[in-house]
Amino acid sequence: MTQDRIIIFDTTLRDGEQSPGASLNVEEKLTIARQLARLGVDVIEAGFPYASPGDFEAVQRIAEAVGTENGPTICGLARATRADIAAAGAAVKPAYRGRIHTFIATSDIHLEYKLKKTRAEVLEITGEMVAYAKSLVDDVEFSPEDAGRSDPEFLYQVLERAIAAGATTVNIPDTVGYTTPSEFGAIIRGIKENVPNIDQAIISVHGHNDLGLAVANFLEAVKNGARQLECTINGIGERAGNAALEELVMALHVRRQYFNPFLGRPADSQEPLTNIDTRQIYKTSRLVSNLTGMLVQPNKAIVGANAFAHQSGIHQDGVLKHKQTYEIMDAQSIGLTDNQIVLGKLSGRHAFATRLKELGFELSETELNNAFLRFKAVADKKKEVTDWDLESIVNDEIQQPPELFRLELVQVTCGDGSRPTATVTVRTPDGVELTDAAIGTGPVDAVYKAINRVVNVPNQLIEFSVQSVTAGIDAIGEVTIRLRQDQSIFSGHAANTDIIVASARAYINALNRLYAAQQQPKTEATEPPVPTPATI
Ligand code: KIV
Ligand code: ZN
Repeated sequence: MTQDRIIIFDTTLRDGEQSPGASLNVEEKLTIARQLARLGVDVIEAGFPYASPGDFEAVQRIAEAVGTENGPTICGLARATRADIAAAGAAVKPAYRGRIHTFIATSDIHLEYKLKKTRAEVLEITGEMVAYAKSLVDDVEFSPEDAGRSDPEFLYQVLERAIAAGATTVNIPDTVGYTTPSEFGAIIRGIKENVPNIDQAIISVHGHNDLGLAVANFLEAVKNGARQLECTINGIGERAGNAALEELVMALHVRRQYFNPFLGRPADSQEPLTNIDTRQIYKTSRLVSNLTGMLVQPNKAIVGANAFAHQSGIHQDGVLKHKQTYEIMDAQSIGLTDNQIVLGKLSGRHAFATRLKELGFELSETELNNAFLRFKAVADKKKEVTDWDLESIVNDEIQQPPELFRLELVQVTCGDGSRPTATVTVRTPDGVELTDAAIGTGPVDAVYKAINRVVNVPNQLIEFSVQSVTAGIDAIGEVTIRLRQDQSIFSGHAANTDIIVASARAYINALNRLYAAQQQPKTEATEPPVPTPATI
């Protein structure tokens, strides 16, 4: 199969969501999927339908709403079992282009300790299950899990069997992030040279960042024939995460003269190597960070707060004289605008809605009304409302989980020489308003203690961070927190010009996720057992 550009397969909603605490509700997944479609990804791996009814529903709704004729392919993950594959097939059915991605481990260590199967059995299952998936959809992807540590000769046999059974994409995962770039490149080259029917499939790569090598490994894989890259926004994912979409795409974009010849093009070809609209990268990164509660480190390549900042005088001087002295790409190429001041307190609903549309937000009528009320409240306190403020207001509005607990009032007294005291009123899921007060080591601690007295949901606060959206004393503050209950982590996020209010709302936001998870019906025990992300 010839492929003269790189296919971007986004797995933020599947492998990315496997990051501890990154779990998203169906509405949030839909919001991210819509943005991924605007970003221009070719395939969205929307979830693991057999894992839970919630996962099934999310994949199905994304298939319906985002998997349109001009939209991306919608993919569902399935272990190599009939039940998993049937669930994935049903979930992606509404999509114009649906894909089943089925996998089974091929490394000896996985066969012996996890699967307790022989190589012959794995080979047999591969053929049978790929054929079964092919009976449900045309587009079947197969992954030999832990390929990076598998015996190459066995890997070739499994891939040949998968392609013979109908797989049109074979994905090579470095599941544990173990390989180095030259080793990973050699694995891809070996597959191209030794799998007799490889020309009937696209070679894809999937990799984790345990040694910080995932992106480098993928770029080496591209040079050796890989044409699909499986990646996540901000590199989120299991353990140290997956290869970061923004890093891969910008590496291929900025260094296209270097990569062009590997795709059989003249070095100076201006034809983009991916379908990604790079100007949507920054916005997508912010959205995913806000909704998952996974903060982006300031020095993160491409999307970190410092990625385009020049601190040293020598660099600043150079950039002022000629940008390219210290900049290899333009901030605007990833959609970092000049943060224009666009609206103020006299701006009406129409101007507000128009600007949001220009920024690429599609809100429902109710979301728009609520966001407008929030904008008015912000504009009352803050004379100049920038694009970044708008983005923060809207992300905050659309990411509220179902409001089980609702913060009605928060009031604090604090300062030098006084004991920080907070009073809160919270409406419980039964509609009862409860008020209580507490003293803490600081105002946020007092607020959290007062909320705990009211909601009575045991948890441990493990992370708290405040970031300002723009500079200035009247800036909006964004608070992101993470809570732990037993083995599960829940994140919460809120934005407000008052950071105590933002802290209280972020806490309620996380508690609502925790409480909603507690209320979810447990999946019926079926054969085979329902996997949890940690067992994939
Ligand atoms: O890391 C991995 O091996 C996976 C597979 C399911 C592709 O996520
Ligand atoms: Zn993975």
